[in-house]
Amino acid sequence: MNMKKRVLSGIRATGRLHLGNYLGAIKGMLELQDNPDYENLYMVADLHTLTTPYDVEELRKNRREVIIDYLSAGLDPEKSILFQQADNPYHLELAYLFSSVMTVAKMQHLPTFKEKVKQHPENVTMALLNYPVLMAADILIYKADSVPVGLDQEPHVEVAREIARRMNQDYGTNFPEPKRFKTEGQYVPSLLGEGKMSKSVEGSFINLVDDLETIKAKIAKAPTDTGSIGGEIPKEGGVANLFTLLKLIGSDEVYNKFILDYRDKKIRYSEMKEILSDAIYKELQPIQEKRKYFETHPEIVGEIIAEGNKKAIAIARETVEEVKKKMGLL
Ligand code: TYM
Repeated sequence: MNMKKRVLSGIRATGRLHLGNYLGAIKGMLELQDNPDYENLYMVADLHTLTTPYDVEELRKNRREVIIDYLSAGLDPEKSILFQQADNPYHLELAYLFSSVMTVAKMQHLPTFKEKVKQHPENVTMALLNYPVLMAADILIYKADSVPVGLDQEPHVEVAREIARRMNQDYGTNFPEPKRFKTEGQYVPSLLGEGKMSKSVEGSFINLVDDLETIKAKIAKAPTDTGSIGGEIPKEGGVANLFTLLKLIGSDEVYNKFILDYRDKKIRYSEMKEILSDAIYKELQPIQEKRKYFETHPEIVGEIIAEGNKKAIAIARETVEEVKKKMGLL
């Protein structure tokens, strides 16, 4: 009998990971991986990639690249089960069973759904509507109660809690009500001065694979000319975002120095940007080094995925059998 609590998280295979994914999700995964009270499962959400327009060959590549990013960032197959969602057919099976306790109206009202409808009005598919139901299946199939994801995913974790309650009430299952595991970087701002860092907004993000020159060029473009300086730092806009990034990634000492410089009206943004760029690169450089190793050892990555898939499938099968029995299907 497994007494450990479980953790489940995933990242879509939509392209290279950025600093927002790292600080908002992966940092939390790393923290939980080192907590002996938890069994960790981290997947690439390749099925969720189908909910927005995508390129088939890109997906084939990226569903593996995300695993390589996980490994490079420090997820350790000795401690965490790393796997590909589409290789475990039970996720889809459970998602269908769950869809019978969730209304269409509720799904249509989610802010995440509305945002995607705006972004891709030509692509409002059943898969998109079902996104949170599949995500609930991803989490609950392992009876995970902790989900390291960024702030934007809170509505989806709430759907998982609602489905858990409905299933437990209607069918007597024992799903936990999962909670989001928050990191300090749960909301990493965009480099463009407004909104969050996002793969779908060009110029808003720093990739985990960016070199120092690229990071410097991107940070140099970040807006700072908000007019007044002196006193408290602004709550939003380009300057606020630079301070947020510096707080997340720089030392307290450097952060405090620039706070004082701002207050005393002697801040030099070029200096602040230089220091911020260096700090980001210092954080990413070891990840990039490790990436080179996994890029040149595809057979090791293949073995890790095969092993992870096998373990994930074994746990998932049990949950689906239990649910099918309780729903009258076995
Ligand atoms: P995705 O690929 O959109 O996002 C991956 C993770 O990165 C976090 N994130 C951010 N965190 C802080 N600041 C940002 N600017 C930022 N941008 C992205 C997201 O919150 C997320 O944690 N639906 C999930 C994928 C998924 C999943 C799951 C997650 C599918 N099934 C089951 C957990 C459990 C997603 O949006 O991925």
